[in-house]
Amino acid sequence: METTGNTILVTGGGSGIGRALAEAFLGLGNQVIIAGRRESVLKQVVDANPGMAYAVLDTSDADDSKRVAERLIVDYPKLNVVIHSAGIMRGESLQSGATELEVTVATNLVGPIRLDGLLVPHFLKQPHAAVVTVSSGLAFVPLALTPSYCATKAAVHSYSQSLRYQLKDTAIKVHELVPPYVQTELMGDRQLNDPHAMPLRDFIEEVMNIFQNSPDAEEILVERVKPLRFAEANGGYAEFVRHFNDQMVAARVGE
Ligand SMILES: NC(=O)c1ccc[n+]([C@@H]2O[C@H](COP(=O)([O-])OP(=O)(O)OC[C@H]3O[C@@H](n4cnc5c(N)ncnc54)[C@H](OP(=O)(O)O)[C@@H]3O)[C@@H](O)[C@H]2O)c1
Repeated sequence: METTGNTILVTGGGSGIGRALAEAFLGLGNQVIIAGRRESVLKQVVDANPGMAYAVLDTSDADDSKRVAERLIVDYPKLNVVIHSAGIMRGESLQSGATELEVTVATNLVGPIRLDGLLVPHFLKQPHAAVVTVSSGLAFVPLALTPSYCATKAAVHSYSQSLRYQLKDTAIKVHELVPPYVQTELMGDRQLNDPHAMPLRDFIEEVMNIFQNSPDAEEILVERVKPLRFAEANGGYAEFVRHFNDQMVAARVGE
């Protein structure tokens, strides 16, 4: 995608990766609109970033998505990029049922696909446009502690490929951002302060370098995510998955 001169909607733009991307793209001369459910959080970000705008949006809600998308297209006729950073990640014990299944699928999978359905017809009328999906390293190696989450991210990877193929003869680019474990509040304070997670600033710097230097990159892969992204291709996949999950379970003993 082009990194300047766009009008960009960033879902989940009130915090974490979404906020940091919104600020980075604003700094490059783009019009940026952030969206999320908590208006107070969005307001704080906009106040700290003159020129940025916000829209209250629950991407898991079909009516809300339609209403907000239609309004944004009227208010921002040059809207040509969406970054799907809205997401939730919750632990589940499958021995007592996938308690977070519906809300996780509605937020992480149905939300972005439905929003694309509302925005792509408008993007097709723009001289150039982009859809940035956000999957995860866990799309490629599941963390068994968060099964519904990993299933939705694997599905986002699959969907991204279909979307890219269907749009290959148009001016819309499809990029899949595949974050590794990054210091955000996705799973609360522990993750935000976990020294094993990648610092958010480092992650965004590497991501923006890729966007700027490799405008046709189908997947946005920082170095840290490559062991997960290519685990299957690298061989010994079953052992990798087992070892990865054993380590994660061990790290949580006593919590
Ligand atoms: N951090 C990581 O280690 C990591 C790794 C791989 C992938 N990712 C992905 O990166 C994306 C951003 O996560 P993050 O780490 O930046 O965590 P985060 O700070 O918790 O950001 C998630 C954002 O999504 C918004 N959101 C959640 N449900 C929503 C809904 N129904 N409608 C609209 N907005 C909603 C939240 O705002 P509201 O609560 O105000 O709605 C929040 O701002 C997610 O898709 C996540 O799966 C993160």
